[in-house]
Amino acid sequence: MNRRTFLAGAVAAASASANPPKLAVEGGSPVRDTPLHADFWGTSYYGDEETSEVSDVVKLRRPFRWYGPGKEPPAKVATFEREFARRMQTRFALGVTSGSAALQTAVAACGIGPGDEVILPAWTWHSCYAAIVLAGALPVFAEIDESFNIDPSDIESKITPQTKLIMAVHLQGNPADMDRVLEIARRHNVRVLEDCAQSVGSSYKGHPVGSMGDIGIYSLQLNKTITSGEGGAVVTNDPLLFERASRYHDLGDLRALHEHILGGAKADWVAGSQFRMSEFTGAVLCAQLRKLDTIVESVQANARRVYDGIRDLPGVKLRRLPDPQGELGSAVFLGFETKAQCDRYRAAMKAENVPASNPGGSAILPIQPYIEHKRTVHPTWPSFTSERGRAIQYGAACCPRTLDILSRFAGVSLHPKFTVKDTDDIVAAIRKVYPQVVRA
Ligand SMILES: Cc1ncc(COP(=O)(O)O)c(C=O)c1O
Repeated sequence: MNRRTFLAGAVAAASASANPPKLAVEGGSPVRDTPLHADFWGTSYYGDEETSEVSDVVKLRRPFRWYGPGKEPPAKVATFEREFARRMQTRFALGVTSGSAALQTAVAACGIGPGDEVILPAWTWHSCYAAIVLAGALPVFAEIDESFNIDPSDIESKITPQTKLIMAVHLQGNPADMDRVLEIARRHNVRVLEDCAQSVGSSYKGHPVGSMGDIGIYSLQLNKTITSGEGGAVVTNDPLLFERASRYHDLGDLRALHEHILGGAKADWVAGSQFRMSEFTGAVLCAQLRKLDTIVESVQANARRVYDGIRDLPGVKLRRLPDPQGELGSAVFLGFETKAQCDRYRAAMKAENVPASNPGGSAILPIQPYIEHKRTVHPTWPSFTSERGRAIQYGAACCPRTLDILSRFAGVSLHPKFTVKDTDDIVAAIRKVYPQVVRA
């Protein structure tokens, strides 16, 4: 019997017995002496590789990707784009300044504008909503399911003749149910944008997230799998979408490198934005990308240890995982019958020094006051001046299931560098707390 089996067995026996161990929240000894803390992932892997890549840029005095002094080494952003496309198994990748910029670029590449509707989950990050509104299109919210991702069965009822795009957002490391999303989208001739900001490196049925829809975006901000502090990327297999994305991110121009990769230009100059990635960002990302698989494999192994250690708990309900093999394992979430049980679980886990929290990193968008009141920079913004735009109502009434689900799940965050003791402590705390919380 290994240490973990012994540990889990001992705690299970105790918690199933008439005298379960006294919870720390009730004055018992905590599982850990100090709180377990999951730090930022990417920066905890920073080392000589990042330093060396950045120092190349400094030594060459070449911080701008398209020109500058010095001889021509493989430029950093161009190298990052080539290696990122290979890792994500797509034909094209484009480096941009942030995940939000990537979203705006991808929405523009899809030709979304006034009069169009875009379906997005009620639980996701502000940037998704903003990218739709900034394009002048109308955001239409769909409920999430117990994967915390968009519920495919709610998408269909939200599709109208104006629907042009579905945002499938892979939240907190968990890939969305892509088979069902893609099937609905194809049937209705609607494009799919995969937002992989919170799940960089995860996969669905063997496909890297971002590679299955028409276009994919990633954030490389501090709180993501790999990071340059700020940064983002767009991927696609479609040459026209790539050309439109490349143009949009660079004031409408198509630079020689991307024209060469495309084998020629097919689209015209359009008014675009300026979301070019700097060589410093590209340099850090070259080093970080080469560590992505190590980070992903490590956090997945840690998540597996926790899942294996709690799976046999009677009645235990985990977050729904459309592809358990591909999930990153950012956090291990348990679901409860009631919010009150979930709140007790969170309080008890905190006292054990293994804190658990409700799903985080996103916002319940329809209940944000600025969204509920359709606030925009100009009073006649095209998103909300059409008949549909005026009639659509946001607020709690459009996402009751989302509100309910998020109030009844709590998770312990994981880290790729957690030790065996850390994951043992998580298992021990859950096995100690969960049966007592659900029994109370
Ligand atoms: C789902 C999702 N999409 C997009 C973004 C935007 O990324 P960025 O912060 O790099 O602009 C985030 C950021 O956290 C996110 O969580």
